[in-house]
Formats: sequence, C-alpha cells, structure tokens
Amino acid sequence: MWNWFILMLILFCMFYSSKSSSVRHFPSDFMWGVGSSAYQIEGGWNADDKGESIWDYLTHNRPDKIDDHTNGDITADSYHQWRRDVQMVRELHVSTYRFSLSWPRILPNGYMNHVSNAGIKYYSNLIDELLKYNITPMVTIFHWDLPQRLQELGGWTNPEIIPLFKDYARLVLELFGDRVKTWTTINEPWHICEHGYDVEYNAPSYNFPGIPAYLCGHNLLKAHAEVVHMYRAEFQQRQGGRIGITVDTSWQEPRNRNNPDDLEASERTMQFYLGWFAHPIFSRHGNYPKVMIERIRNLSKQQGFGERSRLPEFTTEEIHRIRGTSDFFGINSYTSFLVSPNDHNNSAGFPIPSYNHDVGVVFDQNGVDWPSSGSEWLRVDPKGMYHLLKWIHREYNAPMIIITENGVSDRGGLADYARVDYYNLYLSAVLDAIEDGVNVRGYISWSLMDSYEWKAGYREKFGLYHVDFNSPQRTRTPKISARVYANICKTNAIDWSYRPELNEQQLQAAARLPAESVARTNSAATLSWSCTLSLLLLLLLARHC
Ligand SMILES: *[C@@H]1O[C@H](CO)[C@@H](O)[C@H](O)[C@H]1NC(C)=O
Ligand SMILES: *[C@@H]1O[C@H](CO)[C@@H](O)[C@H](O)[C@H]1NC(C)=O
Repeated sequence: MWNWFILMLILFCMFYSSKSSSVRHFPSDFMWGVGSSAYQIEGGWNADDKGESIWDYLTHNRPDKIDDHTNGDITADSYHQWRRDVQMVRELHVSTYRFSLSWPRILPNGYMNHVSNAGIKYYSNLIDELLKYNITPMVTIFHWDLPQRLQELGGWTNPEIIPLFKDYARLVLELFGDRVKTWTTINEPWHICEHGYDVEYNAPSYNFPGIPAYLCGHNLLKAHAEVVHMYRAEFQQRQGGRIGITVDTSWQEPRNRNNPDDLEASERTMQFYLGWFAHPIFSRHGNYPKVMIERIRNLSKQQGFGERSRLPEFTTEEIHRIRGTSDFFGINSYTSFLVSPNDHNNSAGFPIPSYNHDVGVVFDQNGVDWPSSGSEWLRVDPKGMYHLLKWIHREYNAPMIIITENGVSDRGGLADYARVDYYNLYLSAVLDAIEDGVNVRGYISWSLMDSYEWKAGYREKFGLYHVDFNSPQRTRTPKISARVYANICKTNAIDWSYRPELNEQQLQAAARLPAESVARTNSAATLSWSCTLSLLLLLLLARHC
C-alpha cells in the first residue's frame, strides 16, 4: 500500500519537475502585447481642457465607495510620462501595446461641439512614438471613463448613447486610423453594465438591481455594432485595419462535476456572463442566449412585471445587424468561480429582482486549492483558462481569439515570483488549448505598470513595472516578472527555469522604496522543496510500516 503510494508520489514529482523545467514554444506568428487603460494610468484629470469622466465624478464625490478613498487624478501620470511608458513597452520585447482613449479627454462634454486639440495631440504623440519603435498600437475606444455629462442623460441606459458613441468613434477613426490597425470598440461590457448599474462596484455606481443593467447591455451592443458597420463601410478598406470587442469572462467551474445540476449551473452562468455579450455577436443565430431570454422572461412574470421582460428584446433586423460584428474574439480573464444552483426559493442574499438572482447560482471560490492573490475575487486556476478557451471554441465555432487581458495582483514588491508563476501557469494552459486546436493568436498581459485599480484604489498591484506613487516622476522600476515576461516575448517560449534574482538596478530601486518592495518567497521553488520533503517524510514513514 505504502509502496504504491510512494510510487505515485515519485511519478507526480517527476511529472511536476519535467513540466516545470521544460521550455515550451508558441506558434511562430503568436502576438505578444501588454496593456493599460486611460483612467488607470494617465492622471491629468483636468489637464488642458479635459472634461470630467464618471470616474472623476465618483471618486471626487463619493470617495467612500473606493476602498482606500483615493482617485486617479494623478495616478502614474502617463499624461506626462508617456515616453517612459513606450520605453518600458520596448524593454518588454512585445510587438503590441494595448491602451485606451479617454472620451472626455478628446470630447470634454461628450459632444462634437467641443473637440480638444490637447487631447488629440497627446494620443497622436503616443501613437507616433510607438510606431517609431515598430510597436503596434491596439486601441480601445472606450474603457469605462464615460463623459459625466452623458451620464447625466442616463449613460448607457439612454439609447441616445448610440449616435453619440458613433460620433466619437468616427472622430478617432478619422484621426488615428491611418496609424492604428487594431481597434476594440468597448472593453468589458459585463463590467460596465452589471458592475456599474446593477450593483455599485463601478462608476456610475447606480446600485439599481434587475433593470438598468439590461438596458445598458442592449444599447451597448447596438452602439458597438453601429461603430463596426461604420468602420467596415467607411474606413476598413482604405485603412486596412481590423476591429472587434473585448468581453470579460471567468471560467465557471461546476462545484461537483458529477452532479448534473452543477454542470447545468456552470453552463447557465457561462451564458449569462460571457454569452450575454458574446452570443449576440459571435453565435450562429445571434440574439441573447436562449436560457437568458427564457429565465428573465419567466422571472419577470412571476415578479409582477407582466408580459414585458426586464431583458429588452431585439428586433429580427437588430439581431442580424449585431451578429458578426467583430473581426476577432477578445477576452479578458483572470480567474475562475465554483458554481452550484441557487435553491429556487432562496435568493442567496441577492436582491429580487437582480442580475445575480436571474442567473440563479451561488458563486464561490472556497473549497478548492486555488492560490489567492492581492485581490479577493482573484484565485489562481490555470486549468480554468483552458476550460474557458475550449468552451469558446466549441460554443462559437472556432473564432480567432486574442487574450486581451490576463494577469494577477499582489500587494506590492519587486520580487514578484507569484506573478512569474501565474504567467507561466496561465500561458501553459493557453498553449495546451492551442495544441488542442483552439485558435488563440495573441496574448496581452495585464498590466504594463501598477495603476489605479478602480474600486480597490492603489492597494492591488497588477503591474510588470512598479510605480513609486510617492515620487514626483512616478518612477517606474521593472519587477522580476517584467524580466521574465520580456524573456517569454523575446524567445516566444515559456522557460520555467528562468527565475532571475533582483539585479543591481532593482536592488538600488528597492533600497529607496518601502520594505514591502523587497523579499518575497519564490513559490515554485517552495513547491518543489515541499514535494521533496514530503517524499522523504513518506519514505521514513514507510520504513515503519
Ligand atoms: C420558463 O417557463 C416555461 C413555462 O412555465 C417553462 O416551460 C420553461 O422551462 C421556463 N424556462 C426557464 C429557462 O426557466
Ligand atoms: C418560499 O419562501 C417564502 C418566504 O420565506 C415562503 O412563504 C414560501 O412558502 C416558500 N415557498 C416554497 C415553495 O418553499
């Protein structure tokens, strides 16, 4: 019995060390990138004639809604430090820099009657600097920072947003489309609508469950589609670029894979989360997922809303107009959740009605050995990335996928070996999916540098570069992960044995920074040590049996 157990353990350890020491290569044309977003890094919140965004408004008027009561007024000061940013992008050996344009920096009130020359110049300079070094700009037209004036009209819940977004998009496509060849219209629609309108996690922080999030999603999908049709009709041929959308998603792992109810809960949650925005655009027939339409219609009726579902309906013409409006499938994904069905008569603490009650599952991240991170919601489950990619491949008929965000947070430090492990593990899972036929063409790590992390303020760090938020220049220093990621991009391969120590530049920088920035455990090394130790222990035990 013991001998058998030890044999298994030896095999496991051998398997682990062979996996961890091997070098695995990506396809030769694989695209590597790094990402950021305007509100999180730019600062200059009222520089020149920039208008107020919903994030300026929220953080200034309701600082209590932000964990550390901070704001993005200055943050990493990329409005002034953009040359250094481009230098960092070059140091990483990536071919692509993904960043976003701030709508109120370009159109201070959201409308075309006031166009900011300073805002245009800022982005134009950034794009030129990237091109000078052969780095491809990948530009997000909207990454959450809506002009506050438009929020006063109801933001994404008002259909008026559709022509306004189209005007703004036309302007930036005209201004930058000669130099920018990859566009995404909107970043993370689920977060915009569910976290902005249903619950109070993101600006505009409505906390109005069950109704406006669905109006937001409805208008957002139409606005996205209009911009893509405009690009295809007026710009694409002449400018030769591509356009798509980036949806956010997490893998929804059934709590118990042998329980059909949990499997169904997993599938339903995938449809409600990813499918809400992906099904209308990427599925064969378009429209919202069937399960979403039926459940919300049934629940609306039970709740006394009558025959009109809280989920708005598309006309047949709208379904056709939205379907197919993305040249690639952009996904942001960080973690997984465990799901099981919600008891039919139990709201699981969710208000009725609400989006979460409509989904009808209980979300959890406990009871599995997924390592934690600097964010409460983010547990490390690389296998979840594999399942997610396979699910998208099956569900949407093998689309071309670009992972537009993936990364992990911690609470600070230059010796960020946990982040190194995360990248190696998640990229291995991506490679497993590619080897199993999933069409993943690129990977953009999140994030270039420590940033203003929305509701979490400055507590959670996602950067490959550390930013000293106390220094006037917002000094940037590469973390260990920056050197490892640069090596991955340069060699087009994951090399588990590449785990550099802090170099002279990093040690000098660390000496100037608070203590949190220095030592951290090297967790992969810890794992192989504990593997060896437990093996020795078991051998000893076995001798006594
Ligand atoms: C909605 O209600 C109908 C009629 O009661 C039922 O047949 C159907 O299964 C329900 N659909 C969902 C997804 O709950
Ligand atoms: C559901 O809960 C409500 C309130 O607690 C209760 O009145 C009702 O009888 C329950 N229904 C079922 C089917 O258990």
